[in-house]
Amino acid sequence: MKLHNVVLVGFMGTGKSTIAQELAKQLGWSMVDTDQRIEALAKTTIPEIFSNKGEDFFRQLETEVIREVMSHSNQVVATGGGAVLKQENRDYMVRNSMVIALKADEETIIDRVSSDSNRPLLQGDLKQKVHQLMQQRKAVYDFAPLQIDTTNKTIDEIIQYILLQFKR
Ligand code: S3P
Repeated sequence: MKLHNVVLVGFMGTGKSTIAQELAKQLGWSMVDTDQRIEALAKTTIPEIFSNKGEDFFRQLETEVIREVMSHSNQVVATGGGAVLKQENRDYMVRNSMVIALKADEETIIDRVSSDSNRPLLQGDLKQKVHQLMQQRKAVYDFAPLQIDTTNKTIDEIIQYILLQFKR
C-alpha cells in the first residue's frame, strides 16, 4: 500500500498543528489544518460556527473537509480533536495514510490550551471541561496504530521518532 498522507489526531492541546507544520517541512509535503479548511469553507471562525449554527453543523463541515482532504496525497494533516468521533471520518483517515495519535497528560493539556480562548467546547470552567471531555474521549484515539505521548518530549524528539517509523 502506498502511503499518501500522515494524519495527526489527538485531544486539543496535544500539539497536532505544531508537529504537523514541522513534519511537513521535513518531508517536503504540504501541511493541511482541517480546522483552517473548515473556517475557509464557512468563511467564518470556529467559535462563530458553533454559536451561530451549532456543533452538528460544524461536524458536517468537518466530515466534508476530511473527505476532500483525504482524496489528495503527500500532506501532513492536522485534525481537530473531535474529528475522530465519527466512524466515517476514521475510515477516510486510515484508508491510505499513517494515522498518528498524539497524547499528553491532563495538566499539560490544560496548560497548553489556557492561553487560547478559541475553543468553544472549553468555554467556562476550563479544568472541569478538559477533565470531562478527556474522560468521554478516553478511547477514541486508540484506533491510530502509532501513539505518541508528547508530555515531556521536545518537538524535535517527536519529529525524529515519527521519521524513524517511516524508515521501517
Ligand atoms: C474540537 C477541537 C478543535 C476544533 C473544535 C472542536 C474538539 O480543534 O476542531 O473547537 O471537538 O475537540 P483542536 O484540537 O485543534 O483544538
